[in-house]
Amino acid sequence: MSTFKAPKGTYDLLPPASAEYLAVREAIAAPLRNSGYGYIETPGFENVELFARGVGESTDIVTKEMYVFETKGGDRLALRPETTAPVLRAVLEANLHKAGNLPVKVWYSGSQYRYERPQKGRYRHFSQVGAEAIGAEDPALDAELIILADQSYRALGLRNFRILLNSLGDKECRPVYRAALQDFLRGLDLDEETLRRAEINPLRVLDDKRPDVQKQLADAPLLRDYLCDACKTYHEEVRELITAAGVVFEDDPKLVRGLDYYTRTTFEFVHDGLGSQSAVGGGGRYDGLSEMIGGPSLPSVGWALGVDRTVLALEAEGIRLDIPSATSVFAVPLGEEARRILFAKVTELRKNGVAADFSYGGKGLKAAMKAANRSGARYALVLGERDLAEGVVQLKDMESGEQTAIGVNEIVAELESRLG
Ligand code: HAM
Repeated sequence: MSTFKAPKGTYDLLPPASAEYLAVREAIAAPLRNSGYGYIETPGFENVELFARGVGESTDIVTKEMYVFETKGGDRLALRPETTAPVLRAVLEANLHKAGNLPVKVWYSGSQYRYERPQKGRYRHFSQVGAEAIGAEDPALDAELIILADQSYRALGLRNFRILLNSLGDKECRPVYRAALQDFLRGLDLDEETLRRAEINPLRVLDDKRPDVQKQLADAPLLRDYLCDACKTYHEEVRELITAAGVVFEDDPKLVRGLDYYTRTTFEFVHDGLGSQSAVGGGGRYDGLSEMIGGPSLPSVGWALGVDRTVLALEAEGIRLDIPSATSVFAVPLGEEARRILFAKVTELRKNGVAADFSYGGKGLKAAMKAANRSGARYALVLGERDLAEGVVQLKDMESGEQTAIGVNEIVAELESRLG
């Protein structure tokens, strides 16, 4: 064993389990690709100010969880704790938001970094697949994103997840609510830090998980009673559209998210088999974010689904994804000349698009056949001394165990026809 270990709060994705992660990413990406979202990739780090301004100075993400560092050139950067602000930064920088081009619909997949206290489902390095629709205020866009996330979870076979939906209002009605909530919070018996939070970011207090705080919050004013007419109408339309699509959701008037950029529609996907880290995904509208980072008004909406937690949710429901073996043919040479011939055949098969692997390291028949089994290959090709003399190779069907001798020169064509 090496003297080094993966850093605290991280883990390695190793084969064969890693195939499940790839399949989850693909299952989330497929409905997006199918709905006009283009792939975007941004750097793993950004100017720290992008997150301070975008995600919010008083959020846990910015105050406690960012990996911040200074480069030799003196730039202050942060490993990205999320990718919505970077995506918007990239879209603005590349001028993708020209009129006529809106909404800009993009999806991404990648690592995120948050210095959190590690526990099951909560890591310091984790992975998200996300989607952002930038530059349009249209309830159908909010609905589209919720429907697509629901579709990808269903395609994975997940059933025990719930969608929580809320509206956080806009710059008209939220301040009125904020003041009312602050008045209410000032009258409670709260510790000093929570009272401080109530002054800076009162909505976050609603998210306090401590039972004694939750009990006091039972009669807290709710944003839904303060929504202005425009927000109410917008929210009603989102609800109607997703209902018409057959998506089941729960209204959660206390749902607030841990990022400050949200306005109007907010939602979270929670899974009931995951214990305390139950949010498998979340998102919402962020109509003011572009202006917060120096851009024009670009009302937008998006979500990110956590790949790590989605894999845990699959485990919790006992779902094993049907991942076909990557290898179709496994070649087993016995002896030096057989090695040269079979290696050439494997290369030819690969060139022709057949997934093939080879027994390396001069293994004997028994060990090599074990490797062939492990590879999940449909066929093994065995070439021994006697076969060489006869100009044939043994083609073994790994499922039925049936073995046929095929001419060395015919084997590639034979395999191609058998594998369709
Ligand atoms: P978020 O709710 O902070 O939203 O993260 C989205 C998902 O990432 C969570 O629901 C969870 O599954 C996963 N996640 C977050 N932190 C961790 C962690 N420490 N370990 C494992 N998984 C984690 C955002 O990031 C927003 N950018 C989403 C968004 C996109 N809003 C609009 N557009």
